[in-house]
Amino acid sequence: MWICQHVLFIIFTLNCVSGAASLIHVFGYEGKEVKISCPYIKGYESYEKYLCKNGCGYSDILITTLQRNTSKYLIYDDTKKTIITVTISDLRSHDAGKYWCGVSRLGKDLYTEVQLEVKKDRCCDTVSKIQSIEKGSVSISCPYDFEYVNNLKYICRGNRPSTCLQQAVITSDTKQNGQFRLTDDRKSSIFTVTISSLTLRDSGSYLCGVQRKVGLDVFSAVELEVKELELFHISGIVGHPVTLQCPNPPEQRDKKMFLCKGDQHNNCTDIMENQRKFMLHNVSSSCFSVTITDLEAADAGTYYCGSDSQLSYIKIQLTVVSTDQSSTVSPIITDEQITSLTTSPHLTDVTLFYILPAVLALLLILVFLLWMVLKYKSRSKKVDGVGLNVLNSDVGMISNDIYELQENAVYMNTSSPPNMSNHDDIYTNILYRKDLSQLGNM
Ligand SMILES: *[C@@H]1O[C@H](CO)[C@@H](O)[C@H](O)[C@H]1NC(C)=O
Ligand SMILES: *[C@@H]1O[C@H](CO)[C@@H](O)[C@H](O)[C@H]1NC(C)=O
Ligand SMILES: *[C@@H]1O[C@H](CO)[C@@H](O)[C@H](O)[C@H]1NC(C)=O
Repeated sequence: MWICQHVLFIIFTLNCVSGAASLIHVFGYEGKEVKISCPYIKGYESYEKYLCKNGCGYSDILITTLQRNTSKYLIYDDTKKTIITVTISDLRSHDAGKYWCGVSRLGKDLYTEVQLEVKKDRCCDTVSKIQSIEKGSVSISCPYDFEYVNNLKYICRGNRPSTCLQQAVITSDTKQNGQFRLTDDRKSSIFTVTISSLTLRDSGSYLCGVQRKVGLDVFSAVELEVKELELFHISGIVGHPVTLQCPNPPEQRDKKMFLCKGDQHNNCTDIMENQRKFMLHNVSSSCFSVTITDLEAADAGTYYCGSDSQLSYIKIQLTVVSTDQSSTVSPIITDEQITSLTTSPHLTDVTLFYILPAVLALLLILVFLLWMVLKYKSRSKKVDGVGLNVLNSDVGMISNDIYELQENAVYMNTSSPPNMSNHDDIYTNILYRKDLSQLGNM
């Protein structure tokens, strides 16, 4: 029996010295602390234990259970569990390397090899950038290795891995926490954190973390930029069309154009389905326009429009003016003004309504003055024939212009597009939108 034990003991000692039997890996972050736990065999509870580095000569001993703790090293011998725990504080990169936990005894001491890795407390070299808009929401996709499918997933603000789990805003154990929601697609090994009701303060760095049982957790970094929501004030007149211009930035993939009405962006009714009243046109890579034909008082309110309801949109406050004058004085609109009406979100029927009567009034004054001049000239009998002819032809030109302008006004009043080619545009654009929504459903 004694021989047997002795033989076993020799094998154990040999293993320890070679370091092959029990190598303990520990990991820590720069500036933080790390705990090294070394178990030892029963029977050595009362012996002196120590931690040493490199060759473990006398000067390589960092702390022993007979010494007082220092600010850098703290040793604790749990004699019940027969484990010594050494805490190394304020880790530096040069602390990384090979250590030994030793048990002092007569003859050769017992050793356990420890390998310490020190990592920078910053993540990561590659950062994915994402953008969203105030009051909207954003989804952060965090892919992970398939081997961690059952591990805890979490996300935290900032870029310090050492404190990320402690300060996690959400973990896969909680799923929902205020504006944060975590879903885990285990099949494709991606977890997604959705942040809703975004504010400008949600901008900044985030770390996706996956907890590991051995070694440091794995992280990926995301930089979120929350942009301010742009607000436009637009007004229109009952019975007239108004055009809203909406952003349609090219950088968004799988984008879907939308226009919806409601005070809350996230609870707002899609109105583009009503294609008779809301005409989508002029879709370009940067914006699209929606004309509301035949405004009603009930159309006043808050609208949101853009492409992809979460990523790029603006807020539009539409006021609808109802006025009696609009029935007596019909606004006259030129082709140029129709174009500018559709290109600028600020320009509305109201401006046309005030400018055009003024132009008319000026014309009337001109005609009146002309009449006065003619009257004066005929009375004074000093008629200049050439000058009169010129004036007469001018009057003819002006009245022709008025006639043309009124023809154009007819198009506006009936809210039908000025020519067939525009008609075709609207048709193709609506088709385009339908295609997009079909894509969205797929
Ligand atoms: C070192 O500190 C730990 C924890 O504060 C304590 O349990 C242990 O007894 C101390 N060891 C020595 C040798 O002072
Ligand atoms: C959404 O808006 C409608 C009316 O606009 C309201 O009745 C409803 O309660 C709102 N829902 C939420 C979740 O706010
Ligand atoms: C269509 O949109 C483009 C780009 O925004 C603009 O330059 C053009 O004037 C618009 N055309 C019409 C008819 O609104």
